[in-house]
Amino acid sequence: MSAIQVQGLRPLSGKIEIQGSKNAVLPMMAAALLAKSTTVLHRVPAIADVDSMTGILESLGCVCSFSDGSMTIDATAVSGTRIPECYVGKMRSSVMVLGPLLARLGEAATSFPGGCVLGKRPIDLHLYALQELGASIQEAGGMILAEAKKLSGANLVLRFASVGATENAVLAAVTAEGITVLEHAAREPEIVELCAFLSAMGAKISGAGTETIRIEGVQRLHACEWTLGADRICAGTYLAATLAAGGDIAVCGADPRSLKAPLLLMEAMGARIRADEREREIRLTMRGRPKGFSAATGPYPAFPTDLQSVFLAAACTADGESRITETVFEARFAAARILRDFGAQIWLSGQTAVIRGSYPLKPAIVRAPDLRGGAALLAAALAADGVSMIDGAGHIERGYEDICRDLRTLGAEVFTIHS
Ligand code: UD1
Repeated sequence: MSAIQVQGLRPLSGKIEIQGSKNAVLPMMAAALLAKSTTVLHRVPAIADVDSMTGILESLGCVCSFSDGSMTIDATAVSGTRIPECYVGKMRSSVMVLGPLLARLGEAATSFPGGCVLGKRPIDLHLYALQELGASIQEAGGMILAEAKKLSGANLVLRFASVGATENAVLAAVTAEGITVLEHAAREPEIVELCAFLSAMGAKISGAGTETIRIEGVQRLHACEWTLGADRICAGTYLAATLAAGGDIAVCGADPRSLKAPLLLMEAMGARIRADEREREIRLTMRGRPKGFSAATGPYPAFPTDLQSVFLAAACTADGESRITETVFEARFAAARILRDFGAQIWLSGQTAVIRGSYPLKPAIVRAPDLRGGAALLAAALAADGVSMIDGAGHIERGYEDICRDLRTLGAEVFTIHS
């Protein structure tokens, strides 16, 4: 287990290149199962979730290699149909393999998926999509068994614009026979990137990034090489950490259009933002304390739930009262309770947190509750008057290549301590 030690009150400054996108690479790795050939992905982040997805693909018969940010997945000899339980417990995105496996081998089995502890997180929408495309699904002894002699296009309507269910449905439909129309689809930039990647493999998809995605099934997909876009949540994390710590930073690689709602909020909080869409660079200057604000999370293009925790940390340092409502995950305020250890005043009422900020915060010894909650504790520690310790860094490593290295590049005194 490792912990992170943070010396607070060091304003952030400098420029940082943002890692490739976690939420884009995971479904793309699953998509590699669809082609009886070799997929090459570049700018793949070296994070624990990528290791878990690699483990899943290898257990199914893929030959994978990863070096210098490039991942090669040879899926020629895929024969396994069961996702090993050890990975399912670690990462909810393991469920993303169901669609491609069904399409490729006509069979797929998994236990219920894990990942961050963010409430119930059911997978009914994934199963609904696969069933509508022709799969028969059985649940027995905590396992889900899916079978389909053949998948056929269908009209699907998701009751909620789930990112994962949209991706799973697209992955299963690209080689199904006929036309699939997916309504009330999620519109996240990672879905647009997945569909562009699948199109480069030979899929016929239109409407990605809108509420209606249309897929014309093709018989097979072919080999493809792809360079991933930057991780907008990672970029947003470092920008929001600078709201809390103060300073002047630039994040490079991320498309400012993919962070529209958070950037507007940062401006409302008093930050100066200069965004260059062509150069894909966002610069943030924060002098003094942020102002209190109100925000509600929602599916894209609304404010992303993945940045809720780190904005909560920024709210802890704000001059005035803030209010954040979580509408996507029912249990995503674990970090809010722990942020109180930094001296923050936070009241939780249902899905809303009310925060009265103070500055500086008190140093604390805390434990990361989940991936983004862990990053939020780190942001709070940057604004604390002394040395803080954040245990359970493994949660943070699921999504950030090396958050300490990145923050040190920006002038923070942050170190990982391995025990
Ligand atoms: C993805 C992201 C995650 C992000 C989330 C919401 C990846 C790898 N992960 O997760 O970082 O926080 O989108 O933007 O891309 N739901 C159901 N039934 C289902 C599926 C989902 O009720 O079958 C509910 C969930 O419980 C949750 C909500 O829908 O309340 C959103 O989940 P979803 O959009 O599916 O998130 P993920 O794809 O798991």
